Amino acid sequence: MEVKILADAETLAKAVAEAWMQRATQHQATRPWSVALSGGSTPRALFLLLAKEPYCAKIPWERLIAFFGDERSVPPDHDDANVRMARQTLLDHVPMPYHRMPADTGGAKGYAALLEKHLPLNEEGVPVFDLVLLGIGEDGHTASLFPGTEALTETERWVVMNDVPQLDTQRMTLTFPVINAAREVWVLASGKSKQKVVDGVFQSSEAAAAYPITSVDPKQGNLVWWLDRDATTTENR
Ligand code: 6PG
Repeated sequence: MEVKILADAETLAKAVAEAWMQRATQHQATRPWSVALSGGSTPRALFLLLAKEPYCAKIPWERLIAFFGDERSVPPDHDDANVRMARQTLLDHVPMPYHRMPADTGGAKGYAALLEKHLPLNEEGVPVFDLVLLGIGEDGHTASLFPGTEALTETERWVVMNDVPQLDTQRMTLTFPVINAAREVWVLASGKSKQKVVDGVFQSSEAAAAYPITSVDPKQGNLVWWLDRDATTTENR
């Protein structure tokens, strides 16, 4: 695991955009470079940047393919839809093919089949992303894997509709088997509101044991935490 701590949210977005560009341009395989996009405020800043120069011109967008890590059960043009945010900030501005998660109609099985069709499979038959982008919530959730929910223990399915009683809703989400099969997983967090949860994870606090984010553990891949200074007190200890 690697932890990168950048000065502020802007510097963080730039560092992640540079790393994204490096991975995507160095990708040699004939199949596309695949990424699972996340919702939330930190990816938003990243997507806005990627849609601008130099990234929009230098990244071979047609040779990438994007999926989503999670989606709220709303139509794609709803204010809360992760795909809407991703379209407004990035997907409408670059020619990257993408597949939205149909959480409004509930097609988890179909979405898993899409992953199996487009991504290479590991020896256990799990689709392997080149990159999974994740955020982290103040309750330790990641993607739509919330504390105490059923999807946390899923081992057979790559995509599920997860009941989230604490939000009185259902969300579609990737599950840990597919997240942990990725070549790289980047957890992005910025701002003081994340400090408690991020510090809890790094200090293995008692509360952190219940944080779903602690189950992110790519078996054969790299896990990188991209943080800004406000998101952790780690380096000051
Ligand atoms: C979503 C997400 C979710 C998010 C975290 C952090 O759909 O909300 O994918 O897992 O990444 O809640 O969100 P913020 O960066 O907005 O705090």
